[in-house]
Amino acid sequence: MHTIDSINQLRSHLWQAKLDHKVIAFVPTMGNLHEGHLQLIDRALEEADLVVASIFVNPLQFGPGEDFNGYPRTFMADQEKLMSRGCHVLFAPTVDEMYPTTHISLTLVSVPHLEGLLCGASRPGHFTGVATVVSKLFGIVQPDVAIFGLKDYQQFLVIQQMTDDLCLPVNVIGAPIARAETGLALSSRNGYLSEEELGRACQLYVCLVACRVALEAGETDLLKLEERAQCQLEAAGFTRDYFKICRQNDLKAASTEDRKLVIVAAAYLGKARLIDNLRLTLP
Ligand code: PAF
Repeated sequence: MHTIDSINQLRSHLWQAKLDHKVIAFVPTMGNLHEGHLQLIDRALEEADLVVASIFVNPLQFGPGEDFNGYPRTFMADQEKLMSRGCHVLFAPTVDEMYPTTHISLTLVSVPHLEGLLCGASRPGHFTGVATVVSKLFGIVQPDVAIFGLKDYQQFLVIQQMTDDLCLPVNVIGAPIARAETGLALSSRNGYLSEEELGRACQLYVCLVACRVALEAGETDLLKLEERAQCQLEAAGFTRDYFKICRQNDLKAASTEDRKLVIVAAAYLGKARLIDNLRLTLP
């Protein structure tokens, strides 16, 4: 595996592969890799001749007071994991390489209709930071395919919309959520949980499943289901952010007429803000 930290060097490295019409798949990450990330690499290897991963903790997507400085940086272990999983190229730029003048991109990319809701309401500016860095990374790597985990479902929709609207020739693929045996979605931020909190963290998934079961059984009072889940989470020691039943395509609040649904949730447990979701299609 080649590890490259400069944009120009990465371009020269990928040039021959592009001339040879090799299919390039890209897996952007912020590092601190877990099994979920590595499954994205597996999927990328199925899709392409050459797999490029990136590790870049993007300051633009963290708000004031968020965990940018404390975000776990485990570069050597990450490099090892990527190499042993068969990744071909690791792009690991510095902040100066990505944002040369001021650390703040002068051009911002935003997807307004998806940005202000849910995680975007709790983390203003977050999705502009994500859309901006992902469009820069797409411009640098010029992949044919890019793989994103569906745990960040709102992020996935933002990136899909941004790619469509900017006519970027990238096939954006969503990969299934990787879960621990308890059902807890794997996340770099699970590392913030104490042993005891880790035991309770799967309640987020338990509430999502209970909500899905109720919807499938024909429950139509969506607000009641959302409120019940919030109360269950609070009883398990979580602090509320949101628990919503939404339409899969645009994350607007679902009505009883909608069939393609996604139940999305975010809640705080100790120092960690956990997110998760379940998609379902009603008959
Ligand atoms: O999901 C992430 O890890 C990040 O938001 C991403 C897509 C790598 C952009 O920084």
